[in-house]
Amino acid sequence: MSFQRMWAELLPIGRDAAIGGYRRFSWTPPELECRAWFRDQARRRGLRLEADRNGNLFAWWDAGSGPAVLTGSHLDSVPGGGAFDGPLGVVSALAAIDRLRAEGWTPRRPIGVAVFAEEEGARFGVACLGSRLLTGAIDPARARSLRDGDGRTFGEVIAEHGLDPEAIGPEEDLLGRIGCFVELHIEQGRALHAPVGVASAIIPHGRWRLDFTGRGDHAGTTRLADRRDPMLPFARAVLAARDGAAAHGGVATVGKTAVVPGGVNAIPSRVTAWLDARGPDEEAVRRIVADTLQAARRAGADHGVSVELTEESFTAVVDFDRALRDRLARIVGGPPAADAGTPAPRGAAGGGAGDRPGPHAPDAGTAPILPTGAGHDAGVLAARVPSAMLFVRNPTGVSHAPAEHAEPDDCLAGVAALTAVLKDLAGEE
Ligand code: GLV
Ligand code: MN
Ligand code: MN
Repeated sequence: MSFQRMWAELLPIGRDAAIGGYRRFSWTPPELECRAWFRDQARRRGLRLEADRNGNLFAWWDAGSGPAVLTGSHLDSVPGGGAFDGPLGVVSALAAIDRLRAEGWTPRRPIGVAVFAEEEGARFGVACLGSRLLTGAIDPARARSLRDGDGRTFGEVIAEHGLDPEAIGPEEDLLGRIGCFVELHIEQGRALHAPVGVASAIIPHGRWRLDFTGRGDHAGTTRLADRRDPMLPFARAVLAARDGAAAHGGVATVGKTAVVPGGVNAIPSRVTAWLDARGPDEEAVRRIVADTLQAARRAGADHGVSVELTEESFTAVVDFDRALRDRLARIVGGPPAADAGTPAPRGAAGGGAGDRPGPHAPDAGTAPILPTGAGHDAGVLAARVPSAMLFVRNPTGVSHAPAEHAEPDDCLAGVAALTAVLKDLAGEE
């Protein structure tokens, strides 16, 4: 089945009619439909399906022997997400296998296509949950007790879908069968000016929850001097996060809040806000968070509001395997296009977070190599197996939003690049 046909099949699944884009939270009907679609694609191709204990899916082309070459990505989305973040890597992987088979080529090593669970962390709060569990990067007990917006635990939800919550955790046997992982993904940082590039690094990033607790009261009858309004230190914290990001060369976002009780004419009793902070190095990220907390606590003291900070996840810098990354850049390269690898302005790489360099101007015959401010399963896998990423150009740079887009020709260039990469990596003894 062609890339376009697979793409067209996925497009209607999980569209968010209210805000546009997609809402494919893990283990909700749209994401389950995407998983069913993937299973069906694997069956049609005679690929062997394997579901691990953590909700991740693998479709194996069991040819050859030795350590496998794994590719793939994820099918869940952020709320209001674009069509490409995740699915592009899965569809391109299946299309690449079709191309290799159409050529009559046979791999010397197995090739696998992965669909990782809860990559966005949109439902249970921790991004890359499936790959973190697989690799042992999160305590299974903690994962089991993560709650979604309705208060349901990860353990409860996966049990309903046939997984044993007590059995989740690292899968050494599966990891031991993987020689390397290559994830293809839409580029998300306005930094790639060629159809296809190669990732160098993922900048440090994390998520923190801020709980502001005050006292609920009447919006009309409570004098300003008598209020303990948690909205005020919350507002101060949002501005401090922005200032901290600017001061430390990073980025900070408050994209999700919960206000209790949420009445127009009621002073809230509690505001919870989630801070996403990223930066060129760990110290910068820690400083952004510290500045935010300090401003929140000062304003909290002025308004009789307590402020608690909880770290929900932190991911240190990932520098992808240099040999693998350079190999990919050479395979994908060929003579660079006229505009390939035009260096982005300082700070523009990876969505503005930092002092890490923008794309390397490519040597003749290599693809652009660039860092990213977005997290990926490849970054998690990198701790256990040599990993790399291919990026497909995103002409506007918009991502995690309905307007996310890649041109059809660039998507096909991505498929061609991934095909060449799989052929090279799985073609060696
Ligand atoms: C995942 O896409 C992230 O960077 O948050
Ligand atoms: Mn994403
Ligand atoms: Mn993604």
